Amino acid sequence: MMTMIPIFKTALGEVYEADCVSFLKTVRDETVDLAFADPPFNLGKEYTSGIDDNIADHEYLAWCRRWLDEMCRTLKPGGSLFLWNLPRWNLPLGAYLNEHLTFRHWIAVDIKYSLPIGRRLYPSHYGLLYFVKGDRPEIFHPDRLPVPCCRHCGGELRDYGGYKDKMNPKGVNLADVWTDIPPVRHAKYKKRGANALALKLMDRIVTMASDPGSLVLDPFGGSGTTFVAAELTGRRWIGSELHCGAIIERFHTLDADRDHLVQIHENKNLLFTRADLKRRRTNGKPLPSAYQIQDNELATSCVCGVEKKQIELTF
Ligand SMILES: C[S@@+](CC[C@H](N)C(=O)[O-])C[C@H]1O[C@@H](n2cnc3c(N)ncnc32)[C@H](O)[C@@H]1O
Repeated sequence: MMTMIPIFKTALGEVYEADCVSFLKTVRDETVDLAFADPPFNLGKEYTSGIDDNIADHEYLAWCRRWLDEMCRTLKPGGSLFLWNLPRWNLPLGAYLNEHLTFRHWIAVDIKYSLPIGRRLYPSHYGLLYFVKGDRPEIFHPDRLPVPCCRHCGGELRDYGGYKDKMNPKGVNLADVWTDIPPVRHAKYKKRGANALALKLMDRIVTMASDPGSLVLDPFGGSGTTFVAAELTGRRWIGSELHCGAIIERFHTLDADRDHLVQIHENKNLLFTRADLKRRRTNGKPLPSAYQIQDNELATSCVCGVEKKQIELTF
């Protein structure tokens, strides 16, 4: 096994400027709690790293199987593996993973990623495959989500009928269709590559399938969204990327991500967001009786678990 030197590290994690397969070969067997991959999709896109993103289908799939094999090897029993890709590639890759791991979910993440194409349906979701090594995940605490409410009056958009007063004050169960992940288009993220995933998405995956102190792995670092989510929530992390400039720059200006993550945590695991509670009060909409305690608690307690202390940077 060859030794590699990380190009950048913090007290919790390190990234290697290296090819994913070479890097993965240096990771010990069954040491990773959560493995995540967002590879290039072979769509002929241009990457800063200059990779060829337009190879024959069979070559692309053979390449994916090489790093997936390594990821499966490094996963602990009970560890979770997530693969983000287009449905077209998730179909054969999911079938391959099924031979090695246990299928949990195909999560559809509602994001439009292409213009409508003639004689086809409008491509409007990415597939997030979720597999586990062994029968069941060692760690599983999915977010609970706030009830979707009208942005004007704060009223529920869905009719919960007679169940309204029995609803869990911590929010509704996470489903396998995610419609609340925003595209990364905000001006402050513009300099980040078009391929960067939303911090909200990576926070949801990281907090669902790992605990503080767990080891999170991502062989396709990109702009470092997985590493940032792991770092700010106290997970250890490792990964690779062919061109790490964006990751290093992002870790040197982490405040925007930290503030963003605080906001994300403040708006999950509760039945109504603060903004919706305010709208409901203004518009005289009574709260479900089960929610009264949570409403009082909101005024005084912080629901956010994000690490606010300064992190130590070394590279
Ligand atoms: C879709 S992007 C990942 C984006 C990332 N999830 C984020 O949120 O910023 C895929 C990344 O894989 C990197 N990549 C492509 N081939 C690679 C290889 N063989 N080894 C390591 N990284 C590679 C590309 O440079 C690109 O940054």
